[in-house]
Amino acid sequence: MSLDYNQLAEQYKKYRKPDPRIAARIWNHTKASNRVLNVGAGRGSYEPENCEVIAIDPSREMIASRNNSATRALQGHAENLPFEDDEFDVSMAILTIHHWSDIQAGLREMSRVTKQKLVLLTWVGYSGNFWLEDYLPEIRGVDEKLFPSLSDLTNYLGEISVEDVDIPHDCTDGFMCAYWRRPESYLNPGIRKAISTFSRIPDVSTRLQALRVDIANDAWNEKYSYLLNKEFLDLGYRLVIHQINNA
Ligand SMILES: C[S@@+](CC[C@H](N)C(=O)[O-])C[C@H]1O[C@@H](n2cnc3c(N)ncnc32)[C@H](O)[C@@H]1O
Repeated sequence: MSLDYNQLAEQYKKYRKPDPRIAARIWNHTKASNRVLNVGAGRGSYEPENCEVIAIDPSREMIASRNNSATRALQGHAENLPFEDDEFDVSMAILTIHHWSDIQAGLREMSRVTKQKLVLLTWVGYSGNFWLEDYLPEIRGVDEKLFPSLSDLTNYLGEISVEDVDIPHDCTDGFMCAYWRRPESYLNPGIRKAISTFSRIPDVSTRLQALRVDIANDAWNEKYSYLLNKEFLDLGYRLVIHQINNA
């Protein structure tokens, strides 16, 4: 089932604000570029400010609700990029490849239009660290089916390098694991609407009744007390870098 991002732009505006610590990790890889392509750009989170950026996304509403009017934003799909070969120094795709109908074709297109490197932010599994699985075990299956593994990405791209992106406890970008130290957030329907995984699981609100009770009687704090003084946690988010060699 593909998601209609035209219905989600408002929730994204409210709950998916780029996190400055994650931005710094991404910009580390774009800082020497003059021209950057942002594929599956959504509202334009994490676009670097020191160079020309072109954004592309299939959703008209996501494009219309962008913050950055200086960037040229086009409607289109990763699998068929309307650009010449080698037009960009770096191409980035942030938390989007798992939504593409053909990830391999999209990455092939990104490689074609890029001279130096691809920068992907993706997810490779909770590494046993995400307590929400105790309440809603389906989340793992849903996400593992959608997201490519690192070996899939190696098959598609060839050599890649991988960097862990540990998630801060007060992450401002409300993706799935962003609220790992703020459990009550998962009870908020608006927050859940801005996280695509939940839309693929029936009756989530009722299913989260046990979490509601555990928060109310302090059982959550007792069960997961080992998290309460952590600032960052590895929840499987990774930057995947592929150096292009189009020669
Ligand atoms: C989770 S949002 C991420 C948006 C943005 N990169 C960010 O970090 O906020 C996923 C985005 O992927 C876009 N998308 C879905 N299918 C796509 C495709 N085939 N090619 C490019 N983008 C796609 C959606 O429209 C949506 O804006």
